[in-house]
Amino acid sequence: PIPVIIDCDTGVDDALALLFAVRHPGLDVRAVTCVAGNTDVDGVVRNTLTVLEHAGAGDIPVARGAERPLIEPVRTASHVHGQDGMGDLGLPAPTRRPVDVDAVALLRREILASPRPVTLVPTAPLTNIALLLRTHPEVTRNIERIVFMGGAVTTGNATPVAEFNVWHDPEAAAVLLTAGVPITMYGLDVFKRVLVPAADVARLRASAEPRLRLAGELLAHRDPATSGDPTPTGGLGDAGAVCAVADPAGLTTEPLPVEVSLAPGPARGQTVVDRRPRPGESEIHEGARENALVDVALDVDVERYVKLWLTTLEG
Ligand code: BDR
Repeated sequence: PIPVIIDCDTGVDDALALLFAVRHPGLDVRAVTCVAGNTDVDGVVRNTLTVLEHAGAGDIPVARGAERPLIEPVRTASHVHGQDGMGDLGLPAPTRRPVDVDAVALLRREILASPRPVTLVPTAPLTNIALLLRTHPEVTRNIERIVFMGGAVTTGNATPVAEFNVWHDPEAAAVLLTAGVPITMYGLDVFKRVLVPAADVARLRASAEPRLRLAGELLAHRDPATSGDPTPTGGLGDAGAVCAVADPAGLTTEPLPVEVSLAPGPARGQTVVDRRPRPGESEIHEGARENALVDVALDVDVERYVKLWLTTLEG
């Protein structure tokens, strides 16, 4: 199996990602690290531990990480993920605690100890990853690839042009893009397309198996009929990025220059993706030249990933 470490801000769709990752036979989840994002970092730790217990994966080490972005203040997404970050489903508190070391230390330890290069899957603001890369640059020698959920080629969600994870900590995302390892950007363009059909959500919700019922409740937590939010239910969200690790053939990517807009103002946090067929009228921008090309997801086989996720969970 592929050794993976998930860095998350659990989070409704982070939970869907964890439930899938720990059950997929081709993935070996060696650790899960937590960062502030969808909710505060202690809430993220609690949610992550609870989800792993539901998944029967209570032995995977979980570490607490950054409690705020590098420069930006803490801003959660309770309007999307509920006050507790997990759709306010009233889940039980976890029975265990995170490990004694922090996220950066656990990431370093697990990456360097892995007999095979590790694939990192950040589904959250990139604060932990930036701190890791700046504190322990030697880890890159044992990183196979970083597949991150973040950014957008076209439209944002936190702002008209910025996706939440990158907008939350733009400087950290900029550090990631200079990591010097292969990077896949699983951005909003594909993220929002992978939807589980209503009949499957209903089947999961009716299951007697806690893991499946939790998955169903999470998928259904923003019912447009009752929430007034027009976002369709059933979104796999972050889980799609883990599907892309397990089954990369379901994703269409193109190697492209990507730069994060760091200037204050309406474009802050935008991932500027250069899709021009050849350099334009001006010189390539300095920042973009420094960044290696990123494998940017431009299309996704929706049915394939929905089927993969469902069969893995229900199998
Ligand atoms: C991302 O932000 C969060 O709300 C989701 O969990 C996902 O990681 C989407 O912009």
